[in-house]
Amino acid sequence: MGQFVLIEKYGTLYNFNDTQSEYLNLIYEIMETRKRGDKPVAYIHTYGCQQNVADGELIKGMLSKAGFEFEDEPDNADFILFNTCAVREHAEDRIFGNVGALKNLKRKYPDTLIALCGCMMEQKHIADRMYKSFPYVGLVFGTHALHLFPELLYKALSSGKRVYLRDNDDSLIHEGIPVKRDGSFKGWLPIMYGCNNFCTYCIVPYVRGRERSRKKDIILNEAREMIGKGYKDITLLGQNVNSYGKNLKDGVSFSQLISEIDSIEGDYWLRFMTSHPKDCTKELIDTIASSKHISKHLHLPFQSGSTRILKLMNRHYDRKKYLEIVNYAKERIPDVSLTSDVIVGFPGETYEDFKETLSLIREVEFTSLFTFIYSPRVGTPAAEMDDPISAEEKSKWFRELLDVQEEIASKRCRAMVGTTQRVLVESEKGKDGILNCRTSGNIIVEAKASPQLIGTFQDVEVTDAGNWILKGKIKE
Ligand code: SAH
Ligand code: SF4
Ligand code: F3S
Repeated sequence: MGQFVLIEKYGTLYNFNDTQSEYLNLIYEIMETRKRGDKPVAYIHTYGCQQNVADGELIKGMLSKAGFEFEDEPDNADFILFNTCAVREHAEDRIFGNVGALKNLKRKYPDTLIALCGCMMEQKHIADRMYKSFPYVGLVFGTHALHLFPELLYKALSSGKRVYLRDNDDSLIHEGIPVKRDGSFKGWLPIMYGCNNFCTYCIVPYVRGRERSRKKDIILNEAREMIGKGYKDITLLGQNVNSYGKNLKDGVSFSQLISEIDSIEGDYWLRFMTSHPKDCTKELIDTIASSKHISKHLHLPFQSGSTRILKLMNRHYDRKKYLEIVNYAKERIPDVSLTSDVIVGFPGETYEDFKETLSLIREVEFTSLFTFIYSPRVGTPAAEMDDPISAEEKSKWFRELLDVQEEIASKRCRAMVGTTQRVLVESEKGKDGILNCRTSGNIIVEAKASPQLIGTFQDVEVTDAGNWILKGKIKE
């Protein structure tokens, strides 16, 4: 059997070679006799962040090559896969519940293969527990085994035995895996994988491995291809995109990468996430300010407004530094839209610390926030820290934060009434002819128009504002 060749540690490519493609052909043949309907059907359920969504698109790409079609419900599926997320307990509980619920389906259709992959599966105690609790799960693999998916699936289908692979080498980048993107005009483009930051609350570095960047030319080619295919909104993905290139020999920085992508001709918006404040340079902000296609939107998680808590979180910046970057962004990029992630109730956080978070939110005036109550993750340093504040108290603080943010978002929305915004028309809201459109700053505008406009840029006059969304009229 052809083996992959390790060229060098951290960040080098590795091709999805002929061997894996050959497994896809073998799967195709097996499914010809095993499928329940006319075509083999797969149900892929992805949880978690865009990185997982992008992985799900690779899995769909591989399955498409093996002849699979996809459905949004598991009932007719020959293959069911849960692509899991480990970031908070709530995400994990849902997955345990949903896998448990498949027991009857598997009893009814014993040939249906049920599989689990993704971040939860890179944690030994969880993967073991899933494997033991759900004997009807036939395939388990972690994030570092994605490129071996055809081989693993083939083995599970052909042997009738359970297949389990996790803790594979995390030092490589696997290029050449076929992709089947979920959207036709909005798409994800991973530029790096893994994370080296080890924020003390976070499980991601443990389940996604060390940071490694894709080569610039590969990214540029993929961007060109997407723009050529008509993608209008492309988001570059990485856990900390600002440290892009650090492991590459060609010395390309993230700012250089996005300037080069920006110079590709076409009508499109370029976004990126996530930026880490410790690595967010003035150069990057200048690049956004002077670019043609980069949206005037910066998602810059601050996590806490208290310097004391930021230190405990191992974030490597303080409140002052965060505000300096944000103020520079406001100065250089008129109407910049700032969004962020924030955690309430980190171990040892006091109400005084929390008030600093509230005051930072008031000072920055974010467009929107992703808000989380701290969730202890086994194996992270924060899970070992004293955490005296009760869950009820944390929920109270959390609601207080939501109220403050709602007030700010609503004020920001009202200030936009009367302006004209360029939007990308994204989807139908319901059946009444209202379309959901999105501004460059990532705010939804509802406007009545023909669904034929979906996937196009339009100018919208903002006529009304809710707390989080705008209403508008598409200009003729
Ligand atoms: N790499 C990104 C985010 C990854 S996880 C970044 O650094 O910003 C997305 C968000 O989940 C984080 O920004 C954080 O706000 C939240 N998060 C991560 N671990 C968490 C935990 N244990 N409890 C609560 N929220 C958490
Ligand atoms: Fe987690 Fe911090 Fe890495 Fe983001 S930067 S993925 S929060 S460890
Ligand atoms: Fe979850 Fe993994 Fe993303 S833990 S948030 S899916 S990197």
